[in-house]
Amino acid sequence: MTCTRFGRWLVAAVLTLIAAGLWQQSSADSPVQPPPTQLPGHNALLMGTDWYPEQWPEERWEIDLQMMEDAHLNVARIAEFAWSTMEPAQGNYKFDWLERAIRQAEKHHIAIVLGTPTAAPPAWLTQRYPDTLRVESNGRPVAHGNRAHGSVTSLTYREFCHQIAEQMAKRFGKDPNVVGWQIDNEYGYGMMSYDSDTRQMFQQWLKTKYKTLDALNQHWTTSYWSQTYDNWEEIPIPVGENNPGLMMDWQRFTTYAWTSYQQNQIDAMRPHAAPQQFITGNFMGYGFDPIDHFVITKPLTFVAWDDYVGTGHLDPDTNGISHDAMRGLKRENIWVIETQPGFVNWASVNNSLDKGEVRAMAWHDVGHGADEVSYWQWRSALNGQEEIHGALVGPDGKPEPLLPEVAQTAKEFADLQGVFRDTRVVSDVALLQDYESRWAINWQKHTEKYDQFAILKSYYHALRAISQSIDIVSPDVSLDQYKLVVAPDLNVIPQERAQHLEDYVKNGGHLVLGPRSGLKDQFNGLIPIRQPGYLAEALGGQVEQYYALEKTIPASGSLGTGEVSVWAEFLKTTPPDAEVLLRYGKSNGWLDEQPAIVTRKYGRGRITYIGGVLSDGLVGAAAQWMTKSSGISPAFGRVPDGIEVCRRIGPRGAVYVLINFGGEKRSVTLPHAMQSLLEQREVSQVELPQYGVAVLADTKAN
Ligand code: GLA
Repeated sequence: MTCTRFGRWLVAAVLTLIAAGLWQQSSADSPVQPPPTQLPGHNALLMGTDWYPEQWPEERWEIDLQMMEDAHLNVARIAEFAWSTMEPAQGNYKFDWLERAIRQAEKHHIAIVLGTPTAAPPAWLTQRYPDTLRVESNGRPVAHGNRAHGSVTSLTYREFCHQIAEQMAKRFGKDPNVVGWQIDNEYGYGMMSYDSDTRQMFQQWLKTKYKTLDALNQHWTTSYWSQTYDNWEEIPIPVGENNPGLMMDWQRFTTYAWTSYQQNQIDAMRPHAAPQQFITGNFMGYGFDPIDHFVITKPLTFVAWDDYVGTGHLDPDTNGISHDAMRGLKRENIWVIETQPGFVNWASVNNSLDKGEVRAMAWHDVGHGADEVSYWQWRSALNGQEEIHGALVGPDGKPEPLLPEVAQTAKEFADLQGVFRDTRVVSDVALLQDYESRWAINWQKHTEKYDQFAILKSYYHALRAISQSIDIVSPDVSLDQYKLVVAPDLNVIPQERAQHLEDYVKNGGHLVLGPRSGLKDQFNGLIPIRQPGYLAEALGGQVEQYYALEKTIPASGSLGTGEVSVWAEFLKTTPPDAEVLLRYGKSNGWLDEQPAIVTRKYGRGRITYIGGVLSDGLVGAAAQWMTKSSGISPAFGRVPDGIEVCRRIGPRGAVYVLINFGGEKRSVTLPHAMQSLLEQREVSQVELPQYGVAVLADTKAN
């Protein structure tokens, strides 16, 4: 091929790709792979609802689907509780009604996510096969009539789950209107069965892990309180307090049980499901921790989660932490597959979100990386435990007052899909979270006042106010993209993890460890080196002692003056280049004048240890110092208090979502002129009333 012919061929090839929508401009730091959450042939931003056609006469379906289409909704999740309708008697599968619902939805351009119904096994199943019912820790099987009553470890139950999932996938795995699958529902809140088969499985799992009882006895230090095991069958399922090693392994087994329960359904579906059909699960945000989510989400296409406020109003930090943590599980965009249609029915006070707040919340979701938002639910069943939950349509079949607000937001999503195509959240700052550290601290809090979430939130709030974008990730992933990594309380730091973190610092990163870091190994045992254990040498310092505090104590240093409460560790430094940034004031004598924060340059980076739970002012000062010394600047620029800034980056530049969560109207001056996409004009300043939203395209960002 001559040069000219090759040139012409290249131009033709690019034009074909552009026509097919497959060509995108890429730059060095632009992601080129479309996020798996954005479905080929569908809008980049989707909005949907959870619909239960099995609860309504078929004549009604057309009306509901037309109403959904009129409200610009384009996804419906269905069937996740419809087992007794899909298999009314053992082996008697009835999918024709589901097929009709899917076809009818298709006519209205509503894509379907099918849920496997395994969170609600039917009565014929649990009554004929009682070993499928979960046994509670008091030894009693749960009664039929609620949900999450199946035993995740029952092989009989798994067989039934496999069959229903397989039958569904055989029937709908190639259905053009079924875009993906959700397995089960909220994974049974992580509840386990305490029956003898489960205990035997746990013992077998331990045997596979430790090989010999000698190894297990040694790692759990079972000589303490005569806990030594001579036989695998002697090992109990922990109920309440037990050996910390045993408790850690039971929790890991819980993760294994749910992950293999999930895998059983993936294996049933994958051979029949078209490759473009995704498989996900609906998780419950940062706060839900009985299962290690880094492990269970690995085999899924992407992470979806259920975002509820409950009592009160949306707190952008609390909601942002959950989004960022869910996004951090696979370091990919997410779906909010369920969210609050105004109010719920399970909180202490089921107040409604304010007018405008539901829309603001949906845009908050998008700003933090959601590509779909779906309201639970379209219309409440006329009976059942959730009769008086919020919905988009009332019992009379007419719109609830909230529906127009949802429809407006859905229309905005549909209109702006082009600019969100292939965009992701990209951050310079990461917070580390680790389920094993969370369990370890919660089992031995040492002071009931120790609140890991509150500590995480204090750093999140202060750092996000400066950087305007944060990732929350596992300590074990590659951290090289971050200028600053903060681990508020990484209790478990085995040798390998320490090496990984030390390498991050050596390569130029700034690692900040909070109190209680590096106390434990992977067996939940104490590391025989003072905290932060295997990182003490790099720090050039160590924790001499930790104290649960009865009252707050003063602290001061180059970071300023403030207070430490709940927890304080005093440090000792050895090399002269380890710097003390804060010291405790008068306290219990032991802490008086001792170092509270130590920092040291190490390799090409820096490692810092913060020994106490700092007052908000000190967290703010620490955040200023950390971000400044790590070269971090705001993603957008200064904004008034109450304005939440979110940024997504893609091949065409940055898209900012600004939301006013402050009570009053705010005026925001932009760093430079941008395109206001909701107003369709160029702006240098935006006025945002309470819950007001601006979506701004900044093509200069790349
Ligand atoms: C959960 C469940 C839904 C529904 C909602 C109600 O998230 O997944 O089935 O019960 O709560 O808020």
